[in-house]
Amino acid sequence: VDLEAFVRGLPKAELHLHIEGSLEPELMFALAKRNGIALPYPSVEAVRAAYAFSNLQDFLDIYYAGASVLLTRQDFHDLAMAYFDRAAAEGVRHAEIMFDPQTHTDRGVPFAEVIEGLLSAMAEAQARHGMTSALILSFLRHLSQDAAFATLAMAEPWLDRITAVGLDSSEVGHPPRKFEQVFAAAAAKGLKRVAHAGEEGPPAYVYEALDLLHVDRIDHGNRALEDEDLVARLAAQGMTLTVCPLSNHKLCVVDDLADHPLDRMLALGLAATVNSDDPAYFGGYVADNYLAVARARGLSRDQLAQLARNSFAGSFLPQEVIASHI
Ligand code: HPA
Ligand code: ZN
Repeated sequence: VDLEAFVRGLPKAELHLHIEGSLEPELMFALAKRNGIALPYPSVEAVRAAYAFSNLQDFLDIYYAGASVLLTRQDFHDLAMAYFDRAAAEGVRHAEIMFDPQTHTDRGVPFAEVIEGLLSAMAEAQARHGMTSALILSFLRHLSQDAAFATLAMAEPWLDRITAVGLDSSEVGHPPRKFEQVFAAAAAKGLKRVAHAGEEGPPAYVYEALDLLHVDRIDHGNRALEDEDLVARLAAQGMTLTVCPLSNHKLCVVDDLADHPLDRMLALGLAATVNSDDPAYFGGYVADNYLAVARARGLSRDQLAQLARNSFAGSFLPQEVIASHI
């Protein structure tokens, strides 16, 4: 089979996906119409043309603006269902999806509307595609730790349906240590922990995520490669890195996909995985990410299969379920 068929047929887990980042411009327009919201763009083409970013903040400004069309539980259901249908068609068997409640609650959208819409889509994905999924509640790091605590309190009635907490948004200037107490509180409630670290931030932020937030995975982690001791530690403990090649290219974390460090990570013994991050904004879903980096770096099928195995091994599925996928 050709490379594209091989990649699509490879059973995969997706571990780094912001559900708000899967909002395609077509659905953005449909929801704007349904909710009577005016968008600052005349057309789908104009929206896509605005997706040229030179760093993380450039992207985040547009990403938060796009999320303004999401108001009701039906909107969140439709958003997530579009992602699940697409992911299932390209071999994703399990998805651990991040959502940013503060992006919505700060606009007056009730937490219940957000999470109930996502949960109903997750149940439908299971029924329709046999696809399993989990929710990661992500705190916005440009906001305060107190605001994160308030979000965790809002989530209390649903904690049995939330697998982990995460940390995303503007990295530089908002180090992991800012959220040490709220991550400890989440851990005490039995939640797993992930954090974006080393996307734009320095290796010191990856150390803080490990030592202060006690994370179970590092999202991105690219800049860990600048620190040999850190690489050795991440490799020795088998820490999963959720790497996002097309995101890295679009946000100028790497200048050229041909220079992407994914295979260097594997060679260093790091448990790297491939993920789409914000597929509607970065030009591709998870299979597109595998393919783009495979072509740019000349990855072998063995390496691609290793990345797919790493994605299940790094998931929050029970060990026996992981074993059944690998
Ligand atoms: N980094 C930080 N915050 C985000 C991202 C990302 O790649 N995507 C959505 N929120
Ligand atoms: Zn991300």
